[in-house]
Amino acid sequence: MSSVALKIDKPLVLVGLMGCGKSSVGRRLAAQLGVGFVDTDDEIVKAAGMSIPEIFAELGEAAFRDGEIKVIARLLSGEPKVVATGGGAFISPLVRAEIERIGTSVWLRGDLETLWGRVEGKSGRPLLDADNPKQVLAELMAARYPIYEAADITVDTHANNTHEVVVDDILKALARTK
Ligand code: S3P
Repeated sequence: MSSVALKIDKPLVLVGLMGCGKSSVGRRLAAQLGVGFVDTDDEIVKAAGMSIPEIFAELGEAAFRDGEIKVIARLLSGEPKVVATGGGAFISPLVRAEIERIGTSVWLRGDLETLWGRVEGKSGRPLLDADNPKQVLAELMAARYPIYEAADITVDTHANNTHEVVVDDILKALARTK
């Protein structure tokens, strides 16, 4: 579906657990739709002048979540664009309500092995800086999947799916909502 003449009139907000591909898919999706792309984690890092692990270590997770709310509220305003969020953003009732009010949410749902395969051995995710990070990921799945389910659109992502396939699935789902 590479030449779809789809126009979005609200921000498209990608949500889902670490490793589901929000940034990679978001960038490609924005290019297909001819709109801008922003990544909330990148914007938090820019605003704080610190990396995410530094923010967690020096200011704490609560400070990160505070920054996340402010940054997302700012990014949802203005021209409709594709917004990739950090995995915890949609879990905050405040952030979720803002996303639901202003945008269209898209959950990239992946199974544990797919997500683990993409995050294993990569640094920069303080929540996985644990003795058993795969177990942490499994626990986050159990706690968060019932919440991500509230997204307007759900698209599955698998280890053997390219990001282009996921982008196409999102475009098809969007076309059905028009
Ligand atoms: C987090 C996910 C991360 C980042 C932070 C917290 C979470 O983003 O926002 O480390 O709570 O799941 P990604 O989902 O882009 O890795």
